[in-house]
Amino acid sequence: MSQAEITIEDQRAEALLSVSPSADYSTGGEDQDSKNVLIALDHISKTYKMGEFEIHALRGISLQIHKGEFVAIMGTSGSGKSTTMNILGCLDKPSKGSYFLDNEDVSKLSKDQLADIRNRKIGFVFQGFNLLSRTSALENVELPMLYLGIKNPERTRRAKEALELVGLGERINNMPNQLSGGQQQRVAIARALVTQPSIILADEPTGNLDSRTSVEVMEVFQFLNNERGITIALVTHETDIAQYAKRMVVFKDGKIKRDQLVKVRRSAKLELEQMPPIDFEEDDE
Ligand SMILES: Nc1ncnc2c1ncn2[C@@H]1O[C@H](COP(=O)(O)OP(=O)(O)OP(=O)(O)O)[C@@H](O)[C@H]1O
Ligand SMILES: [Mg+2]
Repeated sequence: MSQAEITIEDQRAEALLSVSPSADYSTGGEDQDSKNVLIALDHISKTYKMGEFEIHALRGISLQIHKGEFVAIMGTSGSGKSTTMNILGCLDKPSKGSYFLDNEDVSKLSKDQLADIRNRKIGFVFQGFNLLSRTSALENVELPMLYLGIKNPERTRRAKEALELVGLGERINNMPNQLSGGQQQRVAIARALVTQPSIILADEPTGNLDSRTSVEVMEVFQFLNNERGITIALVTHETDIAQYAKRMVVFKDGKIKRDQLVKVRRSAKLELEQMPPIDFEEDDE
């Protein structure tokens, strides 16, 4: 791939994946009591300065997420969902409060240290997929492992395995524009999980998808959570989508307004079984 072919979207994806060469795979020490707490936000505030003004995006939120949870984060526009995800994902630092990830205080780490944690422990999935456009599904999924220094043939083996896991074993050589929106999002999910992160963070992952395709993507998330025990935090505007999660956290004006278990959980797999079958059309331009 030449430099000229790299778009701004590509650069964004790359920036999110860049890692310091010193990365290792240690998970850090864990005592028995706190073993299952993966994320602990304690009185987190985030204030953005805009000239003379201050925007209080988060006003002291405390939140724990345990290993194996599937949390939907909801709330009106501007309520602080993405700000929270950016902090959870070590893309941004809180102005106040502490953030423990896997029992490690990450709120005070430097930019480089955050990049290292991010690449080892966090898998990101965004609304816009953020795939490298002129790069095959397989190479897109290999990319984060390249940054982690994982060599071939291991890199390719793990990328293929991740693509098979999301149901794209037959499409590994397709370019993103040869895949449907749902398939592209599944490539992005494979890319997020291939480094075996502690948590997958998804910000509006179904925001660009039609309703059936959304259910298909939610089936992948439910499979990863139910069958593989992968912890997921997912931002959505839609209550329908939140009902595939196990727990719903609702934000309002930079605070957590509600935090409750999903009483009647939807099963994407069952719903898909009840829908008529479809062909995956290729999305050629
Ligand atoms: N980089 C920034 N600089 C200044 N203000 C910001 C910045 N990012 C977010 N904000 C402000 O912080 C508040 C929370 O924004 P955030 O993006 O977290 O909302 P959100 O809940 O994700 O909304 P949406 O549903 O529209 O995505 C908003 O008032 C927003 O304008
Ligand atoms: Mg947002």
